[in-house]
Amino acid sequence: MAESGKDIEKAKSILKQDGLVAIPTETVYGLAANAFSEEAVVKIFEVKNRPSFDPLIVHVDSIEQAKDMVENVPEKAKELAARFWPGPLTILLKKKAIIPDMVTSGLSTVAIRIPDHPLTLDLLHALGFPLAAPSANPFGYVSPTSVKHVNDQLGDKIPYILDGGDCDVGIESTIIGFIDKEPEIFRLGGIPVEDIETIVGKVHVKLHSSSRPEAPGLLESHYAPLKKVKLKDNSVLEAAADPGEIGLIRFREMDPAVPETNQIILSRNGDLTEAAKNLFSALRKMDEMDIKYVVAESLPEKGLGRAINDRLRRAAAVNRRY
Ligand code: TXA
Ligand code: MG
Repeated sequence: MAESGKDIEKAKSILKQDGLVAIPTETVYGLAANAFSEEAVVKIFEVKNRPSFDPLIVHVDSIEQAKDMVENVPEKAKELAARFWPGPLTILLKKKAIIPDMVTSGLSTVAIRIPDHPLTLDLLHALGFPLAAPSANPFGYVSPTSVKHVNDQLGDKIPYILDGGDCDVGIESTIIGFIDKEPEIFRLGGIPVEDIETIVGKVHVKLHSSSRPEAPGLLESHYAPLKKVKLKDNSVLEAAADPGEIGLIRFREMDPAVPETNQIILSRNGDLTEAAKNLFSALRKMDEMDIKYVVAESLPEKGLGRAINDRLRRAAAVNRRY
């Protein structure tokens, strides 16, 4: 188990010595290192078992700090940052040389955001340098939304977890990039497409194929628990299945065909924000249940429902077993 607490001085001292600290954000916990130090950043890839071709998000404490790292910022990127930062929006911008190539896996763009969590913002202020941080989970697995989640898998590999409680949003940031100054969504996430469109007008949601991934986090199969996940558009279960072998993730209400102890409801009120917050812990609980596979219900394809469905689809697309 890693030590955890709210000690910003301790986190600062580890990070200054090129060590790793798990940090809370409003989306999910991140595994952070000094973004300017290759020696520090390489440890992230080792601990996560992450391929070096999967670039990291750089976390900054202000728009001013972001400006030192990027150039040629499109007008619409400025508008989005002004509206949604701090918050769950990551923007892909042309990077300056100060960002090591290891952080961006050699890409000419860097993914950048201001996280909306008081402890991590205090830490960033105290540090004076930005933090490269992917989600604090082994590569390909479900992202962590609590200190326990981080400890369960990475507890033996990192010295400290900054404890900011459970994550409010519960799903990773929306990633937006620019093609000829026009915004495109690379990953659905904590800011719904509709909200982005109120600022910059219609945006294209880019479809990625696993045959030509620009970034592996956008692979068809990702964000997956250990158990096989099947995605259903409604509650209909295969007639042949033994209901006791199935774990159900449902939006609002239980399915009478399956034992209640095998079911997790994401939001009894049908609130998509609450459902997003509960999604990853539900997937993790399914891994602990005595069931053979998971059947998840699709949510309404609007607001955060789109990002939730996206994660469920990717979890269901996994064919790799641990
Ligand atoms: O909410 C979040 O975004 C969390 C918290 C910790 O900030 N971070 C997170 O990081 O989800 P990660 O590494 O698990 O996912 C970041 C995704 C990856 O799929 C990566 O491939 C993509 O961002 N990415 C990073 N830099 C990129 C770039 N320059 N171009 C395209 N995709 C990029
Ligand atoms: Mg991740």
